[in-house]
Amino acid sequence: MEHELQSLDREARQQLAGITEISQLEDFRIRFLGRKGQFSTILRQLGTVSDTDRPRLGQMANSIKKEIEELFESRQEAIRQAAATAAEPASLPDLSLPGRVQAAGRLHPVTQIMQEICTIFENLGFSVAEGPDVELDYYNFEALNIPPHHPARDMHDTFYVSDSILLRTHTSPMQARIMENSQPPLRVIAPGKVYRCDSDITHTPMFHQVEGFLVDRNVSFADLKGVLTVFTQKMFERDLPLRFRPSFFPFTEPSAEVDIACVICGGTGCRVCKKSGWLEILGSGMIDPEVFRMVGYDPEVFSGFAFGLGVERIAMLKYGIDDIRLYYENDQRFLSQF
Ligand code: FA5
Repeated sequence: MEHELQSLDREARQQLAGITEISQLEDFRIRFLGRKGQFSTILRQLGTVSDTDRPRLGQMANSIKKEIEELFESRQEAIRQAAATAAEPASLPDLSLPGRVQAAGRLHPVTQIMQEICTIFENLGFSVAEGPDVELDYYNFEALNIPPHHPARDMHDTFYVSDSILLRTHTSPMQARIMENSQPPLRVIAPGKVYRCDSDITHTPMFHQVEGFLVDRNVSFADLKGVLTVFTQKMFERDLPLRFRPSFFPFTEPSAEVDIACVICGGTGCRVCKKSGWLEILGSGMIDPEVFRMVGYDPEVFSGFAFGLGVERIAMLKYGIDDIRLYYENDQRFLSQF
C-alpha cells in the first residue's frame, strides 16, 4: 500500500503540472480527490491492513492527500488568474501615468496688434466698421478717384476675380461705402484683410490694414498729424520720431506717407528699413474734393483726413521682427512667443 501511495502521489503531481485549463482541473479533482477518487479508494482499503501498519499508512495517505489538495488549489488559482489577465483589453489605460497637457490656443500676433490699434482709435472716439474682402472695382478704384486706365492702378498689383470684381487692395473702399450712406461728422476706422500680388521681407500677398477717416467742418492737416502722433505714442508707449513724407494718392490731396524710426536698428539702417533708418507704416492725406463729390458731400463745406495703416508693419516694429513672412509660416515656436 505504501508503494501504491507513493506512485499515486507521483502521478497526481505529474498530472497537475500538465494542467493548463479549468476544464482539466475538474477531471483531475474527480479522478484523484473526489469521493470515488483514487485517494478515497486507497483510504477505504486501510481497514484491510494490519493494526500495526494502519496508523503509519493512514497518516501517510492523509498527508499526501492534503499536499495534493493544496497543490490543486494553488494550480486552480494560477489558472484562474491567467485566464482573467488574458481577458483584459491590452490597451487598458495606465491610470497612474501623468495626464497630457492640453495646449491652450492664443490670438495670432497680428490679431493682437489689430485689436490694440482698434482700441486706441476707439478711445479717440472712432467707431469701427467692416466691409467685404471681395470688392467691386468701383469702390476699390473708381469711387476713390482712380478711373479705369488710371496709372495709379498699377501701384496696387491687383488680384482680379472678374473685370468688375477683385480682392480689395486696400481698406480705402470703406471710405466711399460709409460716406455714401451717412452724413458728417464721421469718425470711423475700418480694419480688415487686403490682397496684393507682392512678396518680400516687408510685403505679403495678404496683409491687414486699418483705414481711418474723419470728416467734419474745418478739419485740417494738423488734426491728421495730431491723431497719428497720439496713435504712435500709445502704440509704442514712447515718443518715436515720426516723418511725414510727401506722397501721392488719387483720393487724398495733399498726401503723405508716414514713416517711424526703425525700431529694429534704432534708425542706424538695417535690411528691414533698407538702410534708411525709417519704416513706412501708413499712407494718409486730406480727402480729395473729388471723392466728396462722388458721395454727394459739398467739398466747400466739409473737409476730412484719411489714413491706411499697415498692421503687419506695426507688429514688426512693436515686436522687433525682421521678416514679415514669419507671421504666416505657422511656426509654433515663433507664434507662441506672443
Ligand atoms: C494704401 O493702401 C492707401 N489706401 C492708404 C491710404 C489710406 C492713403 C487713406 C491715403 C488715405 P499703401 O499702398 O501705401 O497705401 O499701403 C498702406 C500701408 O500698408 C503701407 O504703408 C504699408 O505699411 C502697408 N503695406 C502695403 N503693402 C504691403 C504688403 N504687401 N504687405 C504688408 N504691408 C503692406
